[in-house]
Amino acid sequence: MMKTLTVTLEDRSYPIYIGSGLLSRTKLLAQHIQNKEVCIVTNTTVSPLYLKKLTASLADNFHCEVVVLPDGEQYKSLTELNQIFDQLLRSQFSRQVTLIALGGGVIGDMTGFAAACYQRGVPFIQIPTTLLSQVDSSVGGKTAVNHALGKNMIGAFYQPECVIADTNTLNTLDDRQLSSGLAEVIKYGLINDFIFFEWLEKNIEKLRSRDENLLAEAIERSCNNKAIIVAKDEREQGVRALLNLGHTFGHAIETGMGYGEVLHGEAIAIGMMMAVDLSLRLRWLSAPDAERIKQLFVAAGLPVEVPSEMSETDFMSLMAVDKKVQDGVIRLVLLKGIGQAVLSDDYGASLLSETLTHYTNHSK
Ligand code: NAD
Ligand code: GLY
Repeated sequence: MMKTLTVTLEDRSYPIYIGSGLLSRTKLLAQHIQNKEVCIVTNTTVSPLYLKKLTASLADNFHCEVVVLPDGEQYKSLTELNQIFDQLLRSQFSRQVTLIALGGGVIGDMTGFAAACYQRGVPFIQIPTTLLSQVDSSVGGKTAVNHALGKNMIGAFYQPECVIADTNTLNTLDDRQLSSGLAEVIKYGLINDFIFFEWLEKNIEKLRSRDENLLAEAIERSCNNKAIIVAKDEREQGVRALLNLGHTFGHAIETGMGYGEVLHGEAIAIGMMMAVDLSLRLRWLSAPDAERIKQLFVAAGLPVEVPSEMSETDFMSLMAVDKKVQDGVIRLVLLKGIGQAVLSDDYGASLLSETLTHYTNHSK
């Protein structure tokens, strides 16, 4: 069974294929490669698991090379990105090359950015292999690398030719990474899909025990939510900012703790709880709803407390480096209910400070 969704963006529209065993479907991939040159970008963890399967389906018809990057968020940097350019240039790949990202969000974001830059832009394909990348990062064309001073601060909007999410790849993912992906799944429920939130509450245990059909449904519903938002606002001039629920706090945690220490989905889960706390202080969200959200994160195996190393001062300086800052004001995604996210700068500095104090009072 394969599901196909579309991200509708005029001449940049593309399909998202979701299903089991898609890595071996040669024609599915080949129809999106315009010429003979292919360069696969992957990492040291994913290549032993899935590279052979992918190259086997390409070898006969394409000139195919591979770049294997080190694994980890700490390598999502300009330095490692250069390895992709080194190989493309050493092998004299032309503007006709298609880059293929085989891996999680780190590989997807880096490959997409490399594709946006190489010879001012070449096509690329996303083959996401983590839950997080299948429900979020492979869709929508945000590509980037980190900077020591800020997460995803160097990047481009650049859409792929297609997204191929083979749900079989999730079988080799460890439980912590699966939970990290569930954070982004829950995010869609919180932003604008209360019915999905309720469905997640009902099915969270089965999702964690990797019920194949339920996982595929969660991926499809997540991608559908994201595709609708991206189609309305590709370059984040408005509604797309809501997809950053929890991210201003979460990115501060990732940068402050050192990239890779707290997983992206974990940091976002904590960040979403901080946004929930501030929404509660604003009386936009009720206490029972805040508790319900917390219980779902806990049931998904996610952390809900800030790491003890982080202080309020850390948050204030790190949150100032956020892509939603405008004229020096930090805009935050907050909740007016479950399924009703809003972007606001109208929260009052003192209430934000109360949230930060509460979450960084590690002796409580
Ligand atoms: P990741 O890419 O680091 O992958 C997590 C770990 O799982 C890595 O060790 C990876 O090698 C391993 N892995 C990947 N596939 C596997 C498989 N099938 N079996 C076993 N191990 C596997 O992290 P992620 O959670 O996939 O993505 C996080 C990144 O995505 C962050 O850098 C974040 O900023 C980015 N992101 C981007 C967007 C976007 O819109 N572009 C959205 C959300 C997150
Ligand atoms: N993950 C946020 C976005 O794609 O806009």
